[in-house]
Parts: sequence; C-alpha cells; structure tokens
Amino acid sequence: MLSRLLVTGAAGFIGSNFAHYWHRQYADTPLIILDALTYAGNRANLAGILGHPNIELIKGNICDRALVDRLLTEYRIDTLVHFAAESHVDRSILGPEAFIQTNVVGTFTLLEAFRIHWQTQGQPGHYRFLHISTDEVYGSLGPADLAFRENTPYAPNSPYSASKAGSDHLARAYYQTYGLPTLITNCSNNYGPYHFPEKLIPLMCVNMLLGQPLPVYGDGQNIRDWLFVEDHCRALDTVLHHALPGQPYNIGGEAEIKNIDLINMLCELMNELAPDLPIRPTQALITYVRDRPGHDRRYAMDISKIKADLGWQPSVSLSAGLRKTVTWYLNNRDWWLPLLPADYQKYYQQRYTGR
Ligand code: NAD
Ligand code: DAU
Repeated sequence: MLSRLLVTGAAGFIGSNFAHYWHRQYADTPLIILDALTYAGNRANLAGILGHPNIELIKGNICDRALVDRLLTEYRIDTLVHFAAESHVDRSILGPEAFIQTNVVGTFTLLEAFRIHWQTQGQPGHYRFLHISTDEVYGSLGPADLAFRENTPYAPNSPYSASKAGSDHLARAYYQTYGLPTLITNCSNNYGPYHFPEKLIPLMCVNMLLGQPLPVYGDGQNIRDWLFVEDHCRALDTVLHHALPGQPYNIGGEAEIKNIDLINMLCELMNELAPDLPIRPTQALITYVRDRPGHDRRYAMDISKIKADLGWQPSVSLSAGLRKTVTWYLNNRDWWLPLLPADYQKYYQQRYTGR
C-alpha cells in the first residue's frame, strides 16, 4: 500500500543508505527526498540513484512549513519517513540551539503538516509517519542493568538526546490525540558506508589512513551496541509494512562492546587490509583524551518485541560489518577526503585540540 514516500534527511548517513535500500527493493515507488544539505548532508551519498526518474532531491528545511505542505500535496505523499536531524552529541554540547530547532521544531512542523494533509484526504488508513529515533533517549545503563525496553522511562542526558526525546513525545502525542498513524523506532549506534567522519567508527578509519591520533574519550570503557546500517534499513522497511501505528519498536544489533575493544578491532582490520599505512601497527596511534561531558556509560537494547511481533533480527555480525566498513573507507577516499577541509577542521580543532 505504501506508494509515495517523502524521506527527510536522506542525504545523510542512514537516510541515504535507506534510499539506496528502498530503491533496490521497490524501484517503482517514487521517493522524494527533503534535505537541507547541512554539513552532514551530501549529494554524493546518493550517487547511482539520483538520476533515476523516481528519485528527486529537494534542498530545503523541514522547518519550512509552506515547503512541506507543498511537497505533501504536489507529490501526493502517503508515507513520510523522517530521518532529518542534527545527530552528533559532541556538536550538541558545543551548540545546542540547532538541535532544538531541527529536532524539535522541525519534527513538529512535519507532524502538523502531515496531520492536515492526512485529514484533508479523509484520514486514509494506509498513511504512515515513521519517526526515526535513538536509544540515547533512555539515558545511561550500569554494567549489570537490564537492556532498554520500549517502556523504559526516558532519561536523556545530552542536548542531542533531549531534543530527540522531545520529538519522540510529539510523534507519540499525535497518535494519541489525533489518531495520526505514527510509528516510532529507537535504534542503537549504526555504522557502515557514507558515515560522516566525525562519528567514532569513520573517524577512526580516516585517522588511521592519515596517520593521525585515534582519540579515545575518558577511559575507553563506555559501551555501545552496534548495528550495520543495512540491517537498520531492513528493520524500518519491516516496521513500515507490518507494525501497527502507535507502537514503538526498539532496534539494535545485540552487539555490545567497549569503545576501546571496538577501536582495537578496527586497528587489527586496518593493519590487515590497508596496503600502505603511514603508521603501522595502527594501535600506536591510540591516544586517551578528556572525556565527553555527560558521557553515557552504556547503551543496550532489548529487541525482543520487534523479533516477536515482526520477525526482524540483525543479520550482519559485528566482525563482518566492521570488515565491510573498513574496506569501504579504504576504497572510497574520494568520498571522504573532500569532507575534511575548512569547516570540518574548525570543528575538529574546537573539539580535540588540547584535550
Ligand atoms: P546525519 O547527521 O548523517 O544526517 C542528517 C541529515 O539531515 C543530513 O543529510 C542533513 O543535511 C539533514 N538535515 C539536518 N537538518 C535538517 C533540516 N533542518 N532540514 C532538512 N534536512 C536537515 O544523521 P544520521 O546519523 O543519518 O541519523 C539519521 C536519523 O537517525 C537521526 O534522526 C538520528 O537521530 C537517528 N539515529 C541515528 C543513529 C546513528 O547511529 N547514526 C542511531 C539511531 C538513530
Ligand atoms: O546510540 C545511537 C546514537 O549513536 C545516535 O543517536 C547518534 O546520532 C550517533 O551519533 C551515535 O551517538 P554516540 O555518541 O554513541 O556516537 P559517537 O560516534 O559520537 O561516539 C561513540 C562512542 O565513542 C561514544 O562513547 C563516544 C566515543 N568516542 C567518540 C568519538 C567521536 C570516542 O571515544 N572518540 C571519538 O573521537
């Protein structure tokens, strides 16, 4: 039934992987991308699909209500898949305002526009608004705590996660109040191709290839759960097609690991796969730096609900996914090198110099 998609933020990391995935699965479905092309958005992420007649990229802001109204009507959208966000925790600490604007006000703008659009069309039963969110809204776990479940109380600790929590609450409220068919998914850390080099895994890959220090925050013992991005896309497809509106779903990789252990795995892979490294072994580049303020100690997702209700589970193991990812960064210098000049260097120096 899903026939005409508006996908926000699909020039970013997960959104672009989703656009590639969706196009592979459902090439006949029109896919309209709305993306502001911030520092994190990149047309190159959509290479290979952008020229296709069913794919259109519109540069614009999700806070622009008139634009969103026009797109919903003009393209007769029945499914809105919402990825657009400011997504980096460290940037939210340096400057939270953009996070409130895009993540809270932007999500509100989309929900309100979609509600009016849906009501004007007579509230069709197959319309869907899928809001993509994060495990970070649940806060931080101790070593022996049970993994987050869908009914774990929200306790966000960074401006980023607080802004995502606010947007989740809005999506939920639109279902409860208006019956708008919203779906909310909360996922753990993704990794894979097209991941902007400010995030842990791509940053480590790029720095190894450039022979630069590998900055480990604090004691390196923080734990994250990692999911290969294509598995996330498949989960979103499953939720879109089979979940009941109003139902939240946790998505995760069941692959918890300490940051320092993950970095060592990446080093081993790079030592094995990269022919000409500036510094070898890459472990020599590991450098402990001052911790991130409010740094969540551990995330873990209980994904039994999505397994039981919808039959989804992760399919790519952490070691296989990391091997694919390291290989991708090795083979795609032309993608990441242009992302490093001016703006990125300014951010990098602000964040890392003297840490
Ligand atoms: P990203 O930063 O790589 O991409 C965000 C995209 O949104 C970019 O293309 C950017 O240009 C666009 N954008 C930003 N502000 C916009 C605005 N005001 N209007 C229109 N477009 C705008 O992010 P990502 O890592 O791909 O994350 C996508 C979504 O998934 C986010 O909502 C994030 O909270 C969520 N999420 C991410 C992860 C992860 O590990 N990366 C895990 C769980 C959930
Ligand atoms: O958990 C899902 C979240 O994962 C998403 O909602 C966010 O959008 C996404 O950015 C990610 O957030 P994290 O803060 O977990 O990811 P990041 O890659 O920034 O950091 C992962 C871990 O690695 C974290 O414990 C901090 C640490 N780290 C990060 C960087 C960039 C380092 O030790 N050194 C670094 O240089």
